[in-house]
Order: sequence, then structure tokens, then C-alpha cells
Amino acid sequence: MTMIARQDKLAALFKAATVIPVLTIERLADAVPLARALVAGGVRTLEVTLRTPVAIEAAKAMMAEVPEAVVGIGTILNPADLARAEALGVAFGISPGATPELLKAAADGALPFAPGIATASELMQALAYGFDLAKFFPAEQAGGIKGLRALAGPFPNVRFCPTGGIGESNAASWLAEPNVLAVGGSWLCPAAEIRAGNWAGMTAMCRRTLKSLKAA
Ligand code: 3PG
Repeated sequence: MTMIARQDKLAALFKAATVIPVLTIERLADAVPLARALVAGGVRTLEVTLRTPVAIEAAKAMMAEVPEAVVGIGTILNPADLARAEALGVAFGISPGATPELLKAAADGALPFAPGIATASELMQALAYGFDLAKFFPAEQAGGIKGLRALAGPFPNVRFCPTGGIGESNAASWLAEPNVLAVGGSWLCPAAEIRAGNWAGMTAMCRRTLKSLKAA
């Protein structure tokens, strides 16, 4: 797939998702019930972060047992992480940053990939490798919606998935920005709720969030 086709695929995937939960899975046994709970709540596109030792196995289990889920890998920090995600056959990859090594590997690879940017220079670096769809991270802390609007001036064609500090109270405002395709965050699946196995609570939270975003 060409770079442009991969970017288009990722854009379509993000747009369809609207919200993308950022998942930190500590126990492998939680992976499948968690994915089922989110999918039951209408949230199908899931970012499994490489922040725990079981992350890769968790993503694998979700893909095998929850076929309705669109599973991607997040917290890709270097080309080795990217290779692990690609080998799994996940739908997409996301990074909090944009090092030249990672951008080059992602541009040469086959995975639909969104680098993370917080500044104009980082975005210019991502664009130099062909990435015009980026994670804006950490969104609230790096200037919030005003910061994103400022970036839209010099970069009118770049589309974003902001994450960091986004939750039930501000997701709709972010999604109202014309250059925002989807928002991500951990609020739909808090660590304590995962630990407690509160699957029904997470399903309800997903339903409530999607309903309020539709109404907005
Ligand atoms: C991410 O990697 O996108 C962030 O950890 C999500 O930020 P949040 O926990 O503030 O939602």
C-alpha cells in the first residue's frame, strides 16, 4: 500500500472511530473481556499501548477472540516497537512522538501509522516523511484547542487525533474542530475499573459517551 493509501485508510478508520480508548493492560486475562465490553458499548477501535509486558499478547488475544474490534498498537517509541506491531498484523500504529528513526521506519513499512507531535517543528519533521495525520499529544497540556487552532494556520491540510487530558467533559469540543478526526484517551477504561473487572460499567460509559457526542 502506498503512503497516501495508508494515510487515507488511517483517516477513514479514525473518522469512523470518533473515540479511541488508550488501553493499558496489566493482566493478560483482562484483554478479551475488556475488548468485549468496549465493543458492546459501541467503541470498536482500540489502542493497546506498549506500556506493559503483556501488551503484545493482549492485542493478539483481542484480535483472535473479538473480531469486531479494530485493534491498533500505541506507545510505539522506536523502530523495534513498530516492527512488533507490524508483525502482529494490527490495523494501525500510534506514537506519542516523532523521531527521525521512527518516522523513517514507519514510512518504509506497511502499517498505517500516526506519529505524535506537540510543536510545529515536530509536525514539519513528520510531514517531511509524508505523515499528514498526527496524534496531537499531550493535547490539553500542549496548548489545548487554542494550540491546535494555532497549528491549523501554517498546516491547514494536517488532520489530528488529539490525546492527553481528554475526557467526557471536553471530547465534544475537540471533535468540533474541523481538523480533528477522532479523540483518544484513557477515560473510557480507567486502570482501577480494569483491575476491578467492571466491564458493565465500561460498556455503559462507552454508550453514554457516544450518545452525548452524537447529540453535540
Ligand atoms: C496517550 O498516550 O494518548 C495518553 O496517555 C492518553 O492520555 P490520557 O490518559 O490523559 O487520556
